[in-house]
Amino acid sequence: MRIYLIGYMGSGKSTVGKGLAKNLNLTFIDMDDFIEQRNMRTIPQIFADDGEEGFRKIERKALVELSAFDDVVIGTGGGAPCFFDNMDMIKKTGKSVYLKGSPRILAQRLKNSKVERPLIKGKNEEELIAFIDETLAKREKWYKQADVVLDFDHDLSDEEVLEVVK
Ligand code: S3P
Repeated sequence: MRIYLIGYMGSGKSTVGKGLAKNLNLTFIDMDDFIEQRNMRTIPQIFADDGEEGFRKIERKALVELSAFDDVVIGTGGGAPCFFDNMDMIKKTGKSVYLKGSPRILAQRLKNSKVERPLIKGKNEEELIAFIDETLAKREKWYKQADVVLDFDHDLSDEEVLEVVK
């Protein structure tokens, strides 16, 4: 059993993933945490040292490794499905769930988040919404390939997620 949660930054992959894993008796793995441990650098450090291009290669390697793990719920990085043939690999090696949030909700969550995300660092609210609108439009063609699309306009309870995924 291997479930991938995909979706934009701030869509709740970690929160939902932890609840889902607990309910299904699986282990939750956050891809960014996995990358940081494997590389002994934080995500912002990797972006600073290697640029986004370098990060995407490291992210791809992490996906290859994680796609061999069993009995896991994997919270992917927001951009992970949208580079190389990562989405094909996700689809071939597990079930995928797209947590689809509106730009308004995503911006709200990201504004309040303590996680440092290099792609949106230093953006004010207006710039953040414009950035989300633009990148989400480009990314949706990958996200939409997920086996399940969970469209939400509120914070999802564990029960709601479980119901749909089951
Ligand atoms: C990114 C999302 C981040 C992290 C990196 C790039 C993206 O993960 O992988 O900062 O390109 O959307 P989260 O979606 O967990 O924030």
